[in-house]
Amino acid sequence: MLLWTRRDCFPMTHQIEVVVGSAEKQAWFRRSLLAWYERHRRDLPWRGERDPYRVWVSEVMLQQTRVAAVIEYYRKFLQQFPDVRSLAAARLPKVLAAWSGLGYYRRARMMHAAAREIVKARRGVFPQTAEDWHALPGIGRYTSAAIASIALGEPVAVVDGNVERVLERLQGRPLSGAEAWQAAGSLLSKKRPGDFNQAMMELGATVCLPRQPNCGECPVRAGCATRGVLPASQQVARRKAEIAYGLNCRNGSVLLVRRPANASLMAGMWELPELSREAVAAHGNGSLSLRHSITVTDYSVRVVREAAPANAGGQWVARKRLETLPLTGLTRKILRAAKII
Ligand code: ADE
Repeated sequence: MLLWTRRDCFPMTHQIEVVVGSAEKQAWFRRSLLAWYERHRRDLPWRGERDPYRVWVSEVMLQQTRVAAVIEYYRKFLQQFPDVRSLAAARLPKVLAAWSGLGYYRRARMMHAAAREIVKARRGVFPQTAEDWHALPGIGRYTSAAIASIALGEPVAVVDGNVERVLERLQGRPLSGAEAWQAAGSLLSKKRPGDFNQAMMELGATVCLPRQPNCGECPVRAGCATRGVLPASQQVARRKAEIAYGLNCRNGSVLLVRRPANASLMAGMWELPELSREAVAAHGNGSLSLRHSITVTDYSVRVVREAAPANAGGQWVARKRLETLPLTGLTRKILRAAKII
């Protein structure tokens, strides 16, 4: 099925076989990509890292999150939890506090659960294969393959959104999930699987961009079926929404509420009390406005000082405790904008 070709559009020399074709063309692809990666890869704190714990932290943080946003979190997280034992020994709220602002908090909960399993059930010994990593909480096919290839040198390919786009452009058609994993596996460098996987991701992140690919800089354009003309995958429709919070301060404390433990998003994390429309209208003054995006929603956020929250309740939290409390990312942003933290 991967041998589909577009003979009408592309020269015979570089058809689809570059993905699953002759050994020679695959070798050319690996060589070209790896040579490019060596020269052009970004200097990132997790580059060259072989320690499974550190690779694991970086790969989990990088899921659905931009590299620029991850760098500082990665450094701080490793300062606070330098190894799997320190992570396992920490209480969950401390881990969530370190994750506060990165979003997708399930990732942090799952990492914490997996760290405890490694320390307790496996006596601190890391899994030695992608398959064993996959058995831990929160570690899916992508993460297990990324850790095993980068830290352990296991020849397993990874496919994330960037890699999928690179493969589709190379092939000149959309690929099903199974086809993408198969294509990535057939191209993989068995000698340098970690570098190869990172090179594919790097190519997708810096050259083979969704909207305007820089084909002129692409090391494998000679083997690409589309050279960027494949329509970008459909953008997810974004939603706009408005939300308002009350910022109440008293004697060096701030009024916060805790999200329910069974909330589907950001369970158990702390935030400012939400305000009803009426409460916002009644307190037109002294407000702060900012924008915040969570997954596919762009929020216009208003923050009204000393406004009565819609629901009674909440807790006065001393300012000095705020640094270590698992605040939602938006709450941390508001408190920073208001110069409370
Ligand atoms: N995205 C996720 N993991 C990555 C890595 N190791 N290198 C480049 N981009 C990535």
